[in-house]
Amino acid sequence: MASQRFSSGRPSAELTSATITTLTVELIIREFTIEDYERIVELWKQSGLILSAGDDREGIVLKLQRDPDLFLIAEEEQEIVAAVLGAWDGRRGWINHLAVQPSMHKRGIGRMLINELERRLVIKGATKVNAQVYKWNKESLEFFKALGYDVHEDLIMIGKHLKGI
Ligand SMILES: CC(C)(COP(=O)(O)OP(=O)(O)OC[C@H]1O[C@@H](n2cnc3c(N)ncnc32)[C@H](O)[C@@H]1OP(=O)(O)O)[C@@H](O)C(=O)NCCC(=O)NCCS
Repeated sequence: MASQRFSSGRPSAELTSATITTLTVELIIREFTIEDYERIVELWKQSGLILSAGDDREGIVLKLQRDPDLFLIAEEEQEIVAAVLGAWDGRRGWINHLAVQPSMHKRGIGRMLINELERRLVIKGATKVNAQVYKWNKESLEFFKALGYDVHEDLIMIGKHLKGI
């Protein structure tokens, strides 16, 4: 399984005010495996994400049959601190369920995950990547704007549940 290593400047708990050195904690970006499922659902819930069709274990197993290399996890000291469920439909890349553990916001982890996802999408041939963000989610909107994403105010999302057809 492919994984990437990054440095994250999290100060160690042992540091005192007299100690200026910041210990570098290694952030690993790796691909999701189904053994991560419970921990990821917990992260999604903690992050306030709205879970829906396709997010149950069965749905995620199906997703892994398609593009498992786009479901990425960020780990620090074996703890899952962030995740993004990327997808490629053959024309566009998609960013779903991006979540960084609340205590670890604003440390560049979301940016690192999206950068890695974009890199993988470009390799597949994607020329555009989209994300769907609730209008009330200002935090997420500001995050995507900071990463160079345009907001399409004139677009409305349309969806339909297919179970039962
Ligand atoms: C949105 C989210 C993923 C951002 O993750 P993060 O790791 O905190 O973001 P980063 O530290 O990589 O931030 C990158 C840039 O985005 C911007 N940004 C991030 N959070 C921001 C906020 N709350 N307000 C304004 N700008 C913000 C900043 O410009 C930042 O760059 P800087 O650190 O150089 O200033 C995180 O807030 C989150 O998990 N939110 C809850 C779940 C969610 O809403 N997910 C998105 C669903 S569409």
